[in-house]
Amino acid sequence: MMRPTFAPFPLARSRRLRRNPMIRNLVAESRLTPADLIWPIFLRDGNNTHEPVASMPGVDRLSVDLAVDAAHEAAELGIPVMALFPYTDPSLKTPDCQEAWNPDNLVNRATRAIKAELPEMLVMLDVALDPYNSDGHDGLVRDGVILNDETLEALERQALVQAEAGADILGPSDMMDGRIGVIRRALEGHEYSDTMIMAYSAKYASAFYGPFRDAVGASGALKGDKKTYQMDAANSDEALREVARDIEEGADMVMVKPGMPYLDICQRVAGEFGVPTFAYQVSGEYAMIAGAAENGWIDGDKAMLESLLAFKRAGCAGILSYFAPRAARLLGGQATK
Ligand code: PBG
Repeated sequence: MMRPTFAPFPLARSRRLRRNPMIRNLVAESRLTPADLIWPIFLRDGNNTHEPVASMPGVDRLSVDLAVDAAHEAAELGIPVMALFPYTDPSLKTPDCQEAWNPDNLVNRATRAIKAELPEMLVMLDVALDPYNSDGHDGLVRDGVILNDETLEALERQALVQAEAGADILGPSDMMDGRIGVIRRALEGHEYSDTMIMAYSAKYASAFYGPFRDAVGASGALKGDKKTYQMDAANSDEALREVARDIEEGADMVMVKPGMPYLDICQRVAGEFGVPTFAYQVSGEYAMIAGAAENGWIDGDKAMLESLLAFKRAGCAGILSYFAPRAARLLGGQATK
């Protein structure tokens, strides 16, 4: 960037451009709109049933009919994508994770129900085995080892039934090597060439996923940690290599996860590759803001909007956030700061 010589004070006064909302909005470098948001929700069995997630104040697990209501709400608020996550009954969790490719599992049923009423609403599904795995891991486990190549076959089956159910965007979140290429080729081979892939490319082994694992009922099952496949928090160059590989294998969009503690990664990835880059403001980040707000320690609405705008400033195209409906309501469906 060309750096002009700035006029000295008092000829230059930065505060001229901060005097009122009109001028501040005029010169704003980034904006947050409901169109930037992806709303992740949790599903459960039953009818007309919702159940609070203790560690995520304001977030419920919803039965499929209530998930369809939520999709209507999203559409009215201008939110373009719903991401669906299942709370799977423990009796359906097995070491081979076969519930993951059951065409009638919870996420596939919910996808069909949402697309039947709201064909325009984009539905995103996670491709990973953890909600269905009695070991709680994202991959198949043998003798305590998470198996890469065997897991790829399972992910391929899971991805195909999800595409068949009508999912618009698949989000491989498992961090197995080679999964984007395997899934992309399977989709092309089965006439799902329009199905998009948003790769969880730079996904870190993070303590901020705790409340999510409660929400999907994976905390109890998980033995050990996910550090042999999710990334080390110390690394940044490695994130660029992961993203490069996923793009080469056929990802349409990439993601950095968690969000706020990894804003540096968001900025590097978005700047380096110029592909649509998303941040996942994860469950622990939600819990921190919502919990502090509940206690009256911070202004929850303002902190939430500030945190979401930060991702836009870092160069992200959009954000997955449990705050999506609340943020969209505050933004009034309008492009505003
Ligand atoms: C599972 C998955 C996780 C999240 C999204 N998909 C958890 C994990 O990897 O343990 C976390 C989302 C959140 O914390 O909000 N593959």
